[in-house]
Amino acid sequence: MELWIKKIESASTLEELESLRVDTLGKKGVLTIEFAKMKDILAVDKKSFAENLNRQKDQITKALDSKKIELEIIALDKKLQFEKIDVTKFNNELSCGAAHPVAETMNRIINYFLNLNFTVEEGPLVEDDFHNFQALNLPEYHPARDMADTFYNKDYTLLRTHTSPVQIRTMLSQKAPIRMIAPGTVFRRDFDITHTPMFHQIEALVVDEADKISFANLKHVLVEFLQHMFGEVEVRFRPSYFPFTEPSAEVDISCVFCKGSGCRVCSQTGWLEVLGCGVVDQNVFDAVGYKDKSGYAFGLGIERFAMLIHSIGDLRSLFESDTRLLGQFKWLLQEDG
Ligand code: DAH
Repeated sequence: MELWIKKIESASTLEELESLRVDTLGKKGVLTIEFAKMKDILAVDKKSFAENLNRQKDQITKALDSKKIELEIIALDKKLQFEKIDVTKFNNELSCGAAHPVAETMNRIINYFLNLNFTVEEGPLVEDDFHNFQALNLPEYHPARDMADTFYNKDYTLLRTHTSPVQIRTMLSQKAPIRMIAPGTVFRRDFDITHTPMFHQIEALVVDEADKISFANLKHVLVEFLQHMFGEVEVRFRPSYFPFTEPSAEVDISCVFCKGSGCRVCSQTGWLEVLGCGVVDQNVFDAVGYKDKSGYAFGLGIERFAMLIHSIGDLRSLFESDTRLLGQFKWLLQEDG
């Protein structure tokens, strides 16, 4: 039996150990054969014969068990060594994400105005009638309220239809001078090739003492800004109407696709409308209790900017989360460094 024990102790693999188990304790194993001899042993000798065999069986079983544990540990160590992962290794196949064109355009605009010392202000998406309309010189029954197809809630709150209410909140909580932008989400009941029910705007407001801020300041800032965003474009101001500014203007740039000669995108006009602006109406200052102040404001839609900058044809594709579209903007990340 000692021979078997020695063999077990020197087994070097789990397979070898298993075959030794079969050779000793298996159906045709040496010990099993010895046990079978019991029936031929004289009754007087049976007890000591059985005791002897059981002792041997115990020794073999213990040797097999402890060797098994030892070999399993060795096998696991080997496996761990073989399977270890080098987390510092560079994997060329990993693909990185891309900035969404709306987020990227938004960030570009925010950074531009941060460099001009504007602050970034925020307001709630669920607004009330006062901030979204009344204080912006849009009293009840004012026909200009039709411009916005508003989502109303049962409790008379509403989803803000523009970022202009942030002007009101900022003036109510801060003293002039103010130089702020308010980027954010806005909502309107509209859905077609040029409208989605949720989209993004950036509002800007500059306020200082009376007569300090004029339309000329507004014009200068906007021409510089639009040429920064679109390159060498022409900029024109068209007289328009917004309740919160007087005078008001809509601003066009020469078409970025046909350079002003006329194409399908600009409806053959050579011009693309990009934002609304004006000199802050006195009624707005009255609503927030500002006395002897002057200022300008403007507001723009981020999606429109993103579509013109990246030649995206259908506004809705910006919200479909199609990674084939988003994948085309990876270079924006690289450019940002
Ligand atoms: N709130 C306007 C809109 O949603 C955009 C706008 C136009 C904002 C003129 C302004 C402004 O501050 O002066 O269409």
